[in-house]
Amino acid sequence: MRVLGIETSCDETAVALYDADRGLLAQELYSQVDLHAPYGGVVPELASRDHLRKLLPLLRKMLDENGGSQAVDGVAYTSGPGLVGALLVGAAVARSLAFAWQVPCLGVHHMEGHLLAPLLEADPPQFPFVALLVSGGHTLLARVDGLGRYGILGNTLDDAAGEAFDKTAKLLGLGYPGGPQLAALAERGRRGAFRFPRPLTERPGLDFSFSGLKTAVVVALRNRVLDEQTRADAALAFEEAVVETLAIKCARALGATGAQTLVVAGGVGANLRLRARLLALGQELGVKVAYPRPEYCTDNAAMIALLGCLRLSAGEHDDLAIRARARWPMSELAPPAAAPAGA
Ligand code: KG4
Ligand code: ZN
Repeated sequence: MRVLGIETSCDETAVALYDADRGLLAQELYSQVDLHAPYGGVVPELASRDHLRKLLPLLRKMLDENGGSQAVDGVAYTSGPGLVGALLVGAAVARSLAFAWQVPCLGVHHMEGHLLAPLLEADPPQFPFVALLVSGGHTLLARVDGLGRYGILGNTLDDAAGEAFDKTAKLLGLGYPGGPQLAALAERGRRGAFRFPRPLTERPGLDFSFSGLKTAVVVALRNRVLDEQTRADAALAFEEAVVETLAIKCARALGATGAQTLVVAGGVGANLRLRARLLALGQELGVKVAYPRPEYCTDNAAMIALLGCLRLSAGEHDDLAIRARARWPMSELAPPAAAPAGA
C-alpha cells in the first residue's frame, strides 16, 4: 500500500509518500518561518492562507516526480491537534483528493505521528518502548506497547518543553523560532555562571512543570547588564536545566516500566544537548535510545504518511467528513479499528 501524507497543523506545509514495503519514497516541505518571524510567533490566519497557497503546488511537484496520483492507494492527513484553520486546509485537500481518486482517507493524530517517527529510520525500535515526546505543545512520557496502545506515564502540568524554550528565548531577546536560536546561543555560554532548578525532580512522579523555570531566568537576570556573554550563560544554564530534568524523568520511567528502549521524538528532540545526554543515559542503564533524525523530529509529513499507512493497512478509514480538531487528547487514541470512524 502507498499512502500520501499531508501535514498542515502549524507553520510547516508538508507532503510525503510512504510505501508499506519500500518505506519513505518522497517528501516535500515548505517552512513558513520567514513569514511569521517579524511577529515573533505563528500568526494563525497567515498560516492558514499560506498553507492554501503552497499545499497544491508542493503536492503536484511530488506526485509528478513519483508516478502521479495513480500510484496512491490511500490519503492520510493531520486532523489535530493544531491550529484549526491550518488543519482545515490539509483536511479539505486530503478528503477531496481521496474522494476524487476513490481511495480511503484517514485523519490522524499529529502527536502519534511524532511518537512513531523513529520507525522511519533503519533499525527501528521494537515495541514495547518508553517514549519521551517533547514538542512546542506537548511534553509527555508514554509507555508504547504497539500502534494505538499508549499508556501516559507523565504529562506537563503547565508549559511544554518547547514552549519553555520559545518563551525563554524571547526573554533573552531572541527571535522566533526560539528553541534552535537559544540552543545556538547556549553554545557560547560558560558552565556554572547560573544554575536553574530541575522542576519536580525532588518528588516522586513523572509529571513535568516548566513555567517556573522561565520565571527563574527572569529573576536571575533582573538588574543585570544583558550583554551577549550573560545571555549566553543564562541560555546554557536554562538548556541544562531542561535537559537534566527530562533525563531524570526518562530514567525514572525506564525504571518503572522495565522497558529496554527509550524513544525521543518531537521538535525539542532535535536539541543536540538533549540527544547527547539521553544517549549517555542509555549507555549508563544499558538501554537502547532511538531518535529520528532531526528533520523527522520537527514537523514533517513523512511521519503522517507512515502513521496513515499503518492504520489504513489495518483497515481503518474515515467516512466522508472533514475533521479538524484543535484539541485531541492522546488518551483518546486506540489501536486500529476496521470500522469507519463516526459511521
Ligand atoms: O514538534 P514541533 O516541530 O512542533 C509541534 O508539534 O509543536 O516542535 C516545535 C518546538 C518549538 O517549541 C521549537 O522551539 C522546539 O520544538 N525546537 C527546539 C529545537 N528545535 C526545535 N528546541 C530546542 N532545541 C532545538 N534544537
Ligand atoms: Zn509537531
